[in-house]
Amino acid sequence: MSYNLLKGKRGIISGALDENSIAWKVAEKAHEEGATFVLTNAPIAMRMGEINKLAEQTGSQIVPADATSVEDLTTLFTQSQEILGGKVDFVLHSIGMSLNIRKKIPYTELNYEFYQKGMDVSALSFHKMLAVAHKLDAINEWGSVVALTYMAAQRTYPFYTDMADIKATLESIARSFGYHYGTQKKVRINTVSQSPTKTTAGNGIKGFGDFFDYADAIAPLGNASAEDCANYCITLFSDLTRMVTMQNLFHDGGYSTTGVSMEILNKMGIEG
Ligand SMILES: NC(=O)c1ccc[n+]([C@@H]2O[C@H](COP(=O)([O-])OP(=O)(O)OC[C@H]3O[C@@H](n4cnc5c(N)ncnc54)[C@H](O)[C@@H]3O)[C@@H](O)[C@H]2O)c1
Repeated sequence: MSYNLLKGKRGIISGALDENSIAWKVAEKAHEEGATFVLTNAPIAMRMGEINKLAEQTGSQIVPADATSVEDLTTLFTQSQEILGGKVDFVLHSIGMSLNIRKKIPYTELNYEFYQKGMDVSALSFHKMLAVAHKLDAINEWGSVVALTYMAAQRTYPFYTDMADIKATLESIARSFGYHYGTQKKVRINTVSQSPTKTTAGNGIKGFGDFFDYADAIAPLGNASAEDCANYCITLFSDLTRMVTMQNLFHDGGYSTTGVSMEILNKMGIEG
């Protein structure tokens, strides 16, 4: 059902790799809610070609950009404004990659080149995106920027390795940039801390399937799906949340505030 929450709004959506991607669902919902937007992803991800289907389905154009390149991001924001016919109202940062996770390197033995690459792709890219938008004055007043994060920024998950540190940085950038962009241009910046979700990035994590089931058994509402996450992002892009900024918002079915659930205790043979 559409509520026309984004009617007349223009945006940029990064990170739609395939139909499992959280960004893919956000693009579908944003389209349903009346927004027009540009899709972007790393040039290398374009080769998969899936994003073309999404572009066709949502009547969007694609501007490739490596999110670690200020030059690419400058092109992205400049061309997006030309394509969309003005400044943008919302931006989704849905980008994450850790070579240490991909290569299953334990946290105590991290490869620092991989660490720096992961930090650049997954956290500094957010600062770069915001800095480029700020410099070009590319986001309208009361515009909304959302980045996706995970609760390993607050609590330790052994298998999440360097991404925990990287997500903590990402969340801090939302607060720090949120202050400056807020005072100067009334632009809001938030992070959404999402449940484990079966996507390419998610499935790359060691033991992800078991962890997904564990989180699902803890959360009173169960794990939040990518589609639910997209709905939440849409509310944050809408005018209904215009005073929300510099927040890390948990979207996890109650997982982050549950100590233990009866379901888990029962699985351990403990009866309540
Ligand atoms: N899947 C989960 O369990 C989960 C949970 C919480 C948060 N998140 C976060 O959600 C976001 C989206 O991930 P997803 O789960 O939809 O997986 P995904 O693999 O579908 O999306 C990750 C995207 O990052 C893009 N990307 C990688 N390097 C890039 C670069 N240099 N420039 C531009 N784009 C680049 C990829 O092409 C891909 O589209 C990530 O920030 C991830 O950490 C995921």
